[in-house]
Amino acid sequence: MKIELLICIISLSAAWWCNGHMVTAMIAQLDLQANNPDVYAIAEQILAPLNGLLTHGLSNSFVETACWADDLKTYSFEISNDWHYTNKPYDLDGLLNATAGSTNNIIWAISQAMSTLRNVNPNNAPLEASLQLRYLIHWLGDLHEPLHAISRFTVAQPNGDAGGNLFKIYYDGNSQVNNLHKLWDWALGTIGDDCPRPLSNECWNNITSYASGIMKENSRGKLASYLMSTSYDDWALLSYHSAVDYAYNDMVEGKSPTVSYMLRGKPIAQRQLALGGYRLADLLKSLYANPNNS
Ligand SMILES: *[C@@H]1O[C@H](CO)[C@@H](O)[C@H](O)[C@H]1NC(C)=O
Ligand SMILES: *[C@@H]1O[C@H](CO)[C@@H](O)[C@H](O)[C@H]1NC(C)=O
Repeated sequence: MKIELLICIISLSAAWWCNGHMVTAMIAQLDLQANNPDVYAIAEQILAPLNGLLTHGLSNSFVETACWADDLKTYSFEISNDWHYTNKPYDLDGLLNATAGSTNNIIWAISQAMSTLRNVNPNNAPLEASLQLRYLIHWLGDLHEPLHAISRFTVAQPNGDAGGNLFKIYYDGNSQVNNLHKLWDWALGTIGDDCPRPLSNECWNNITSYASGIMKENSRGKLASYLMSTSYDDWALLSYHSAVDYAYNDMVEGKSPTVSYMLRGKPIAQRQLALGGYRLADLLKSLYANPNNS
């Protein structure tokens, strides 16, 4: 109970920072607009009922609503806090027997969102469909943040490190990046600092250019072997292994990441953003693509 409470409190600050979520959504948007514009148009229609004041004027588009599930926390709406991550234990010191942890996690939340969207006609259930699509866009971002799929248990931290939130680091040049979780939420600095919403023209340009740059380096063809799997558990496991191999590996608590750590980690953070975007597009296609058009 105590551990859960702690993780819960710490997770308040946990998510790709808003830019990461918006880049993931932009990758899905660009991918859909190029290949399935009808699916993208349906997604915008489903979001529409909650645009405007109901989402504080911040989430009027597919891309801007990617941060909406984090906005909720600033309005004392905490019921979905546990759905942003899954804490698969990384148990270096053999402290734990099994993979415990809440099953009401991000993997379950994605299934729930998909189930609602599969089973309702958005015209008859505009609120339910709009909420679940907004959640889905956010979950696909979070599930691909390696530190949203892990918690490291050590003798010094027998209750886990809450996805690296308790793993202090020092990052020269950005004092906000003071723990491992934040370094990866920030995608190791590859997508800039958060743009305020509603997005200015400059920010729309920046998010679009981050997304297209990442897609160029991480085409669907290049990621084909990853994109074959449609299992949310597999997606979480890839994040977990990315965290073990690239986030925790070669990083010393209280120190700065080395140049070689950053060089190895950046393409992994970007690959994860790309996978999140393509998989979001694929889920929406599975729901809304007209079988006669493909
Ligand atoms: C591990 O499992 C054993 C046997 O089921 C149990 O007695 C023990 O308390 C467990 N240890 C932990 C740390 O959960
Ligand atoms: C947009 O990107 C440029 C170049 O990376 C950067 O200097 C600028 O601060 C960004 N603008 C905003 C509002 O984040």
